Amino acid sequence: MYKYDEYDQRIVDERVSQFRDQTRRYLAGEIAEDEFLPLRLQNGLYIQRFAPMLRIAIPYGMLNTRQVRRLSEISRKYDKGYVHFTTRQNVQLNWPLLEQVPDILADLAEVEMHAVQTSGACIRNTTTDQFAGIARDEIVDPRPWCEIIRQWSTFHPEFAFLPRKFKIAVCGSEEDRAATMVHDIGVHAFRNENGNVRFKILAGGGLGRTPMVASVIRESIEPEHLLTYLDAILRVYNRYGRRDNKYKARIKILVKAMTPEVFTEKVESEWEQIKDSASLLPEAEIQRVSQHFIDPEYKGLVDQDFNDLALKAPAGFHSWLKQNVFPHKKSGYCAVTLTLKATGDAPGDVSAEQLDVIADLADQYSLGELRVSHEQNLIFADVEQTALIELWEKLSAVGLATANRGLLTDMICCPGGDFCALANARSIPLAEEIQRKFEDIDYLHDVGELDLNISGCMNACAHHHVGHIGILGVDRKGIEYYQVQVGGSASKEAALGKIIGPSFKREEIPDVLEKILNVYIEQRHEDELFIDTCQRIGITPFKERVYAQAA
Ligand code: HEM
Ligand code: SF4
Repeated sequence: MYKYDEYDQRIVDERVSQFRDQTRRYLAGEIAEDEFLPLRLQNGLYIQRFAPMLRIAIPYGMLNTRQVRRLSEISRKYDKGYVHFTTRQNVQLNWPLLEQVPDILADLAEVEMHAVQTSGACIRNTTTDQFAGIARDEIVDPRPWCEIIRQWSTFHPEFAFLPRKFKIAVCGSEEDRAATMVHDIGVHAFRNENGNVRFKILAGGGLGRTPMVASVIRESIEPEHLLTYLDAILRVYNRYGRRDNKYKARIKILVKAMTPEVFTEKVESEWEQIKDSASLLPEAEIQRVSQHFIDPEYKGLVDQDFNDLALKAPAGFHSWLKQNVFPHKKSGYCAVTLTLKATGDAPGDVSAEQLDVIADLADQYSLGELRVSHEQNLIFADVEQTALIELWEKLSAVGLATANRGLLTDMICCPGGDFCALANARSIPLAEEIQRKFEDIDYLHDVGELDLNISGCMNACAHHHVGHIGILGVDRKGIEYYQVQVGGSASKEAALGKIIGPSFKREEIPDVLEKILNVYIEQRHEDELFIDTCQRIGITPFKERVYAQAA
């Protein structure tokens, strides 16, 4: 894991004291609301429905147990004893007091954490695969590149006031677990025929009001030019991006309006001017950062026979093993997902008590580190297979061993109308109603891998457009309704879901889902996943079933 050097630490400490003074002056009436707004946003602070909301960055999703314990302490001391993990490898506090935010930031700085650039029109936290560095299908470890991007983008003077927020995601494996296709820039690391690292660059993806899948801007760029090329894209965006209309300000609109071809030409000619500039990445710098991500001292272990392991274990272990345990590149090890989706808990929420247990278990079973995924889950990345039963028992005792990773109830869900001032509808109670209806784990396993994403408004914080099933909260004359779409995907072959028809009341949604699943179960070919059936048969059969029976 990356360890701050004296510069990183000083930058973060200085930012805390600047913000402390800014907050003091604001509270004393010395600076106005509109002057304070960009200052607070650049420090992750929104004003929300009931209280301020503080968004804290977890760079590329990596946390150590000291940081987890600190989050737990902070949530007890300054908030209501829980935190919320988001879809962007961030964590949010929903109830801090404005006057205490500088103290929270100071406590975070002590454990190498901050909230800088987690909101505002700047480059946000760069995200990646939660299994980075350990996945068997990994081609290039994305973490050093994310860290390099982090250091380049944080406080970059040219990109502090972009037309809109800007999100970069990096993927270095066969499978895309970082939804790169719906980011402002997607970086795909690969190896060329000589085995050298190269990057494919995509731009102009994004969700929200006008969802779009990214276009390839460049097939291959050398590592030394990763930053100069990103620089060129951002310069073009900064120059031509629309600042007159907030809804047309994201890079996706620019790429679409210019066409990807013209946009690429502009980027290429910009790049020609700056390709040998200060952002050129020397090999020594790549090495310096990469050293933070070398493998820990893994023991020489052999792979366990999982069938044998399951036979020895109590009931319940088997489905967890099948669903929540992910293969590791080192034999004898595996990664374990703790889905933060127990029925009745808001997806992504974890209590302070659970955080403490999680930290203890990560120390004991996962080399003192954990990861956050964009599905709002936590991951122990380095677990010895022989410890799985013991770990499962301990996780079960605190409600963190729900065997539903990747299944219907492992949904992505934004805070919706319960906390968010922009919401059209609540999403947390809907998530709970769905969890209650589909509690039967055998049924869920039979349905198989399915991404269900629920957003409370068209801002799409829960990525509903790229859920296999996406639900969107809409407002009809002041009443909460929900629109359903199917067929979205966040994989490398990303697709936007299609709306099946008029929206529903909340209480109707669980039955609508059941009908959609019935169509799938009846029509699927052997071992065919929901998304593949959807793409094969289109939306009409779903539409016919759902509306025919509702009539
Ligand atoms: C409660 C405070 C929040 C506010 C005020 C907020 C606001 C917004 C807005 C206005 C957009 C639309 C951006 C656009 O179209 O340009 C957006 C998009 C997004 N937000 Fe949030 N959000 C909040 C919470 C969250 C949470 C909790 C998550 C994760 C669960 C999240 C993750 C995202 C993501 C992933 C997008 C995707 C669209 C994109 O930028 O391409 N946000 N948010
Ligand atoms: S999707 Fe809408 S309701 Fe949900 S968190 Fe984002 S802005 Fe709020």
